[in-house]
Amino acid sequence: MTTTFDSIKTLRDALKPLRANKKIALVPTMGNLHEGHISLVKLAKQHADIVVVSIFVNPTQFGVGEDLDSYPRTLKADTEMLKDAEADYVFAPYVEDMYPVMPPPTQVLAGNISQILCGKSRPTHFDGVGIVVTKLFNIVQPDVAIFGKKDYQQLAIIKQLVRDLSFDIEIIGGPIVRAADGLALSSRNQYLTPMERAIAPQLNIALHRLAIKLQSGAVKSIEALQVLIHDSIKAINALGFKIDYLEVKNQDLTPITKFSGHQTWIIAVAAWFGKARLLDNVEVEVQY
Ligand code: PAF
Repeated sequence: MTTTFDSIKTLRDALKPLRANKKIALVPTMGNLHEGHISLVKLAKQHADIVVVSIFVNPTQFGVGEDLDSYPRTLKADTEMLKDAEADYVFAPYVEDMYPVMPPPTQVLAGNISQILCGKSRPTHFDGVGIVVTKLFNIVQPDVAIFGKKDYQQLAIIKQLVRDLSFDIEIIGGPIVRAADGLALSSRNQYLTPMERAIAPQLNIALHRLAIKLQSGAVKSIEALQVLIHDSIKAINALGFKIDYLEVKNQDLTPITKFSGHQTWIIAVAAWFGKARLLDNVEVEVQY
């Protein structure tokens, strides 16, 4: 059975007696669920007895002029999907309950890691993610929390948050779920026109082309890497995308400095396509 709670207090009261002998997992979402979210719920079920899915369009992570008002809110359909996926609890709080004072004067800042990649064009985004995830962790007090790897930077920031604030929570990254043509599933894909949707998978194809070039081990300097990245950006923009960033980083999102031995790198991209800002990334193993 799936039970929905719309207040912090009622959810807390329901979870309290379960803590002693049940493992609790949290899957934080902003709703408008798709198969990507459901895969995270399934992963959560493998790691816990009780799965709580939060659905909250968090105003503090949207910047001025971003899509807070138009962000799709589909609680009824979401709840149906979560029933089918056998989630135990849905937590869909009101903004006033989550933020008695708006904007909240208390902040959770992640430092440098929140200012690179997506943080360059969305400088306050991860501060909003930091406070809402901290609140959700305090409310649910889960043993395990699951986040999608599509938001790779978010996942890295959450890991840092757990380390620095000593949360006793295991963080698990769920693999990216893709449409058959390779496009990473996202609630924002619905902003694409049918023509844009047909071209959108080219973003992932471009990342794979770049990954293949890197895997060969032929790139032996920062300068050579920058040339390859520049060429990829040019090719992607030529298809009608507007690249926000395309970068290659170490797994922990630090800059690449070593071109020797075995390396695991992450190619991360954000690109506007019409009204949609698409995110994607691929991991690449490089052997020198
Ligand atoms: O990834 C998301 O959907 C959101 O950023 C999250 C983690 C639910 C916080 O609002």
